Amino acid sequence: MRTIYYTASSLDGFIADSDNSLSWLLSRDIDQDGLMSFGGFRAAVGAAAVGATTYQWVLDQEGDAWDSTLPTWVFTHRAFAPRDGVTLTTDDVRVVHAAMTEAAGGKDIWLMGGGGLVGQFAEAGLLDEVWVQYAPLTLGGGAPMLPNRIEMRLEEHGQNREFLCARYRVLGPRLPTS
Ligand SMILES: NC(=O)c1ccc[n+]([C@@H]2O[C@H](COP(=O)([O-])OP(=O)(O)OC[C@H]3O[C@@H](n4cnc5c(N)ncnc54)[C@H](OP(=O)(O)O)[C@@H]3O)[C@@H](O)[C@H]2O)c1
Repeated sequence: MRTIYYTASSLDGFIADSDNSLSWLLSRDIDQDGLMSFGGFRAAVGAAAVGATTYQWVLDQEGDAWDSTLPTWVFTHRAFAPRDGVTLTTDDVRVVHAAMTEAAGGKDIWLMGGGGLVGQFAEAGLLDEVWVQYAPLTLGGGAPMLPNRIEMRLEEHGQNREFLCARYRVLGPRLPTS
């Protein structure tokens, strides 16, 4: 069981542009059965956590197509409508992670983002891996993939059509060595 941040990013480390848009990402070519594709990843996941802005974005895109089979914790102070499989929370990430671990039943945990929320899990020592699909562009600004300083080790990488895919193991926060 691993806790994984699975996301796509620009080359300069942004997961959404400054208008909170993903149009730069969704138009691109990717093999849905290829390296680090979503289908294979999703099959191994048993619970998920997401920040309010990302959740709102998914609702705007998918609406009633929301995957209620995946127990999901939404970190928010907003009053979202109740939805099957969704728990709204303001609890500490450690408390939520324990509940997600139980719900996942041995499967992986997916941190959907955004970066600030994933950083809270990382600071608590609860982030094991980061999987990134790098799209071939820079955005120059937007929502950061991760705002924290975290040391990682590259475990796997390769190409999936337009994307450079990389899987990293989190080693932990490191201080500068000078
Ligand atoms: N490229 C990709 O694959 C990818 C992946 C994920 C997301 N995205 C996009 O990237 C953008 C991410 O936006 P974002 O970084 O602003 O973040 P976000 O993490 O989705 O949402 C941030 C919000 O989550 C709530 N929150 C965070 N931590 C909390 C806590 N401990 N307790 C309670 N509430 C908490 C707060 O909302 P409130 O207090 O207002 O409720 C906060 O303003 C979105 O546009 C999303 O669509 C892209």
